[in-house]
Amino acid sequence: MRNLVVRVTVALGLSLLVVPAAKAQLPEGVTQQMIDEGKTIFNGAGICMACHGMDAKGVPNLGANLTDEEWNLGDGSYEAIVKTITEGVSSDKSSSGTVMPPKGGSQINDEQLRAVAAYVWSLSNK
Ligand code: HEC
Repeated sequence: MRNLVVRVTVALGLSLLVVPAAKAQLPEGVTQQMIDEGKTIFNGAGICMACHGMDAKGVPNLGANLTDEEWNLGDGSYEAIVKTITEGVSSDKSSSGTVMPPKGGSQINDEQLRAVAAYVWSLSNK
């Protein structure tokens, strides 16, 4: 009996340690559901794949690779990614000289923008 109590206590203790650690990896305000939705938006309503490719690995002279940890704009944080997508990229800031219009020129709303940003964030934060 005592052995069982010890084992249950240890198991509970471990699960308490593991669960918050896994959750803490997502930035504030980001959920796994947003990341999943963001992938659909990236390849659909957001038309991001037109310049960044279906795999988000970039298209030469169009959009940058979004799956690496190198950021031309901002520090790669979730909020920096939201800002870049909201504002787009002007030709003088773009390393290829190609312009990214705000929201990639799409009509996505703020909620969709935050979801697609969550997906982009997840690509370099596995
Ligand atoms: C018309 C082409 C085009 C479309 C459409 C487009 N982008 Fe871009 N994007 C660019 C270009 C060009 C850059 C700048 C690349 C560079 O400087 O190397 C860029 C840069 C970015 C960056 C910053 C990359 C970095 O290295 O800092 C992010 C994030 C991004 N785009 C996300 C998106 C998302 C999300 C969408 C869809 C809502 C989207 N883009 C649609 C062309 C596009």
